[in-house]
Amino acid sequence: MKIARFSRVGFILAAAGSAVGLGNIWKFPYITGVNGGGAFVFAYLITVLMIGFTLMLAEMLIGYTGRKDSVTSFETLAPQQNSLWKYAGFMSLAGLFIMIFYAPVIGWTLHFIVLSAANLPSSVEMAKEHFNTLVSLDVGTQIFYHTLVFIFVTYVVAKGIKGGIEKLNYFLMPVLIVTMGSMFIYATSLDGFEKAWTFMFSPDWSKLTSASLVTAVGHAFFTLSLGMATIMTYSASLPKDSNLVRSSLIVIALDTGIALVAGLTLFTFLYEYGASPSAGPGLVFVSLPAVFYEMGSVGHLFAFVFFVALASAGLTSAVSLVEPVIQYLVDRYSFSRLKASLSAGLFFYLFGIIAILSISKEYGALFTFGSRNFFDWTDFVTASIMLPTGGLLMSLFVGHVMQEERVAKILKKQLGLFYPFWYFSLRYIVPLALVIVLLNLVGILEL
Ligand code: PHE
Repeated sequence: MKIARFSRVGFILAAAGSAVGLGNIWKFPYITGVNGGGAFVFAYLITVLMIGFTLMLAEMLIGYTGRKDSVTSFETLAPQQNSLWKYAGFMSLAGLFIMIFYAPVIGWTLHFIVLSAANLPSSVEMAKEHFNTLVSLDVGTQIFYHTLVFIFVTYVVAKGIKGGIEKLNYFLMPVLIVTMGSMFIYATSLDGFEKAWTFMFSPDWSKLTSASLVTAVGHAFFTLSLGMATIMTYSASLPKDSNLVRSSLIVIALDTGIALVAGLTLFTFLYEYGASPSAGPGLVFVSLPAVFYEMGSVGHLFAFVFFVALASAGLTSAVSLVEPVIQYLVDRYSFSRLKASLSAGLFFYLFGIIAILSISKEYGALFTFGSRNFFDWTDFVTASIMLPTGGLLMSLFVGHVMQEERVAKILKKQLGLFYPFWYFSLRYIVPLALVIVLLNLVGILEL
């Protein structure tokens, strides 16, 4: 069977498109706000540099040398007596679980595109009411947009790596960069910019709790799309002789750059109009629309542009969340792409509806277990547990199970002098850090 591969630029755009998502523009600013700013940003940046880069390279390497779906790649790269390793490939399921809450949130962004074209709420109270009504009462509207997301994502992935995913990213990534970039430039001209800068880059260490540290690590994984075989699956379609080091650095730089730009822009707007940065998940859906209203006509334009950017970022990540499972179904069970896409799509579509119900007033209690509703559980279990676990498995696999010659053959030349540092970090530092994070989690769970 002939497999369509990414072009070099196509791969970088698709991997960056996967990394840059709701995580950067919706989640990063609000968790930074909730966790007190600077110290949290610092913890996140350190994790991205120390763990993120090391692991992204390892994940790319597995895909690039394995050349198949994640399960098969682990299977072929593990020495024969270690056949259990193939089960590590099932980390790809995390993507479908993430889509359970990710797709409904993309749905909200679509709703807000329409809203900002028509009429924005004129005060924070009204915006709050609007968002609460949407989320807790208006199940119908949410399901409507969720359905659109399901159809769109399924359509794109059914078209394949080249004709679907690469094309989508060629179109939406420039849209995202231009829109976010122009809002950022405008933000630098406002007085609030300085406050935003201070909030994000002057750490107050007393605000760094172990819970926020775990959130920072979980978020570093989430935002870089690490630990669930997305980067691995995309890398299986890399052209031969690709430079993995260069690709990972570009993807990480774009992802971190866009998160910081989004954070600074949003906080500038919020400070400029006296809104609080710590409004939680409603930050971009409540405080921001009200601020856009205050800004007058330029604000109305920005609102529209902003939600288009947010939706674009979300959609290019969404396709990457489902692709690993699709590749698995196609490679292992010879599903047609259409059938595989529909199966994966229906999974997140149906469970996504449950997530929507779980945050509604009427049905919420039915889908609340312990301290969290179903929606929050999927977010917590995937980002804080599954992705770091996937990362741990990959670091152990590439660092201790795969033969070193195989690793060195590809990466020694590309990393040059840094190779021994990278390998050491992969074998010891990253697993140790991840074990600590995961153990910490047990404490947090008990709270
Ligand atoms: N990185 C994406 C974001 O920041 C989410 C994602 C996670 C995508 C894991 C793929 C894999 O929104």
